[in-house]
Amino acid sequence: MILEEQDEMGQCWRDVADVLAAGIDRLVLYGPPGTGKTYAALHFGVAVGVAERLVCTEDLTTGEITGTWMPAGDGTWRWREGPAIRAWTARGGRGGRLVVDEVDRASGDALSTLLAMTDSIDSARWRNPETGSWVTPGPEFSVVMTTNVEDLDELPSALRDRFAVQLRVDRPHLDAVALLSEDLRAPALAGSIGEEARRISLRSFYAFDQLRLHYGATRAAQLVFGDVRGSGVLDALRVAALS
Ligand SMILES: Nc1ncnc2c1ncn2[C@@H]1O[C@H](COP(=O)(O)OP(=O)(O)OP(=O)(O)O)[C@@H](O)[C@H]1O
Ligand SMILES: [Mg+2]
Repeated sequence: MILEEQDEMGQCWRDVADVLAAGIDRLVLYGPPGTGKTYAALHFGVAVGVAERLVCTEDLTTGEITGTWMPAGDGTWRWREGPAIRAWTARGGRGGRLVVDEVDRASGDALSTLLAMTDSIDSARWRNPETGSWVTPGPEFSVVMTTNVEDLDELPSALRDRFAVQLRVDRPHLDAVALLSEDLRAPALAGSIGEEARRISLRSFYAFDQLRLHYGATRAAQLVFGDVRGSGVLDALRVAALS
């Protein structure tokens, strides 16, 4: 199968590109794992090196979002800004990208802080505890949240409401697929191989491709997919190679 840009790119990635190109600054990317949501959030529509990443867990604290006091080593304490404030104030105050990964896991205080950090630019402000001065997000501050939940009603409604555009990403990005050996590109794009219904993530294809170089296809398939599933994957690849 030839990867023809227009057909294979997928509507979802065109939507992501269009939305970011139009300057939408609050976007949720959701859907199955390993399609490139985090990669897109970190790289698309954002200058190199100005994306801050926050991975939500049940234990995420406010301090990990806005900042914490750290011992300076000379007996004093210094305030160290967290990723959200760094993204607010990046590039001399213009603002950068904040990526909030696995956002469905945020809860409690961390969730309240996320609400404050992702509020509209006109309403958001935060007081620096060290200097006492008020800080506001720069005009080019943007947030992309990612999650694997399929039903966005599972996200807290106040948070969801801040993000007017929510796109489901259902297939890997072409650039990610292009990093694979040729015979794996079509199956990776389809997210499956052979008869099996269970979805195979891009990450498994990367691992298989890499292990195959070292140990051959049989062992690589065994290591990544297990004995039973692995032999099915190999058969399917052989059939595809013949056709
Ligand atoms: N456009 C791209 N160009 C190059 N590599 C990419 C691209 N998109 C994704 N990748 C690579 O594919 C892998 C999976 O991407 P990523 O971590 O962004 O997936 P995800 O959708 O966020 O998955 P999850 O839902 O599990 O968090 C990573 O190794 C990433 O570097
Ligand atoms: Mg991710």
